[in-house]
Amino acid sequence: MGDKEGALFSVSGKVIAITGAAGVIYSTIARGLAARGAKVALLDLLGDKAQEIADEIKGGRGEAIGLGCDVLDGDSISAALAAIVERLGPVDVLINGAGGNLAGATVPRDGLFTDLALEEVDKVFALNYKGTFLPTQIFCKHFAEQGKGIVVNTSSMCAFAPLTNVPGYSNAKAAVTNFTQWLAVQVRVDYPDAEIRVNEIAPGFLDTTQNHRLLYEADDETLTPRGRSIISNTPLGRFGDPEELLGPIVLLISEAGSFLQGTTIAVDGGFAVYSGVGPLGEKKRG
Ligand SMILES: NC(=O)c1ccc[n+]([C@@H]2O[C@H](COP(=O)([O-])OP(=O)(O)OC[C@H]3O[C@@H](n4cnc5c(N)ncnc54)[C@H](O)[C@@H]3O)[C@@H](O)[C@H]2O)c1
Repeated sequence: MGDKEGALFSVSGKVIAITGAAGVIYSTIARGLAARGAKVALLDLLGDKAQEIADEIKGGRGEAIGLGCDVLDGDSISAALAAIVERLGPVDVLINGAGGNLAGATVPRDGLFTDLALEEVDKVFALNYKGTFLPTQIFCKHFAEQGKGIVVNTSSMCAFAPLTNVPGYSNAKAAVTNFTQWLAVQVRVDYPDAEIRVNEIAPGFLDTTQNHRLLYEADDETLTPRGRSIISNTPLGRFGDPEELLGPIVLLISEAGSFLQGTTIAVDGGFAVYSGVGPLGEKKRG
């Protein structure tokens, strides 16, 4: 292994399936990987949007396809896999990006945990956990046939220190992290002749259009109390940007990450390792 002509971090020519790829984070990642020469398949419940983004990538001379796919439906995932193999070739990497929280599974400002409807919590748990488990099962069969493959899951900071008010989301992301670790071992039990690598990223707080209003007041400059609390608990002193997830993902899926197995890369500006004791950013030099 060497770094001749940037080969160490190369993703060029790799066929990469990404679920949730019409969303904020993974549309950015799909564009970034395609710009580095990967052939990306954007899978999303919103098939038209996935296709639109794929068309934009193709307009910029990248290689991409967009497919409608429900990560909670095995037939839909199998059909997407068959379409990718036919149009782009055997798949090298599966990135499980579909996930998120739902308003109905969040403890309301004037409510209690005991008021939450279990069906709503179930939906969030299913999307994040089953929506990772099921595509991974289906793609791992394909990887075993190829003798190799790479899985990247998407966890969150709330897997390690659960966030207030979002129990289903926190519980599900903790389960995703546990699944990443479990599968990293199980693939060697089940497929001793194949090399399947399984790892994950755990994004911290990002300033995306979706949650911008939770972080900033209407003037777009003043932080909300929640935004202030996040910043004061983030050693790097700012929110992250979806583009800052690209480097860690490239590491996980390239030769550079060839000995990574069952690991979590926290992309959180240090949030997870700060105890909250000792204020940040107050000391003056000199
Ligand atoms: N945004 C953040 O700050 C943040 C932080 C930590 C982790 N994450 C995780 O990163 C991932 C992407 O987050 P995002 O901010 O881009 O979210 P997003 O809501 O912008 O994108 C999620 C995408 O998943 C798709 N989707 C929903 N249900 C689906 C299904 N059943 N089948 C297929 N696709 C489905 C949606 O259509 C959407 O395009 C999620 O797993 C999320 O939990 C996000």
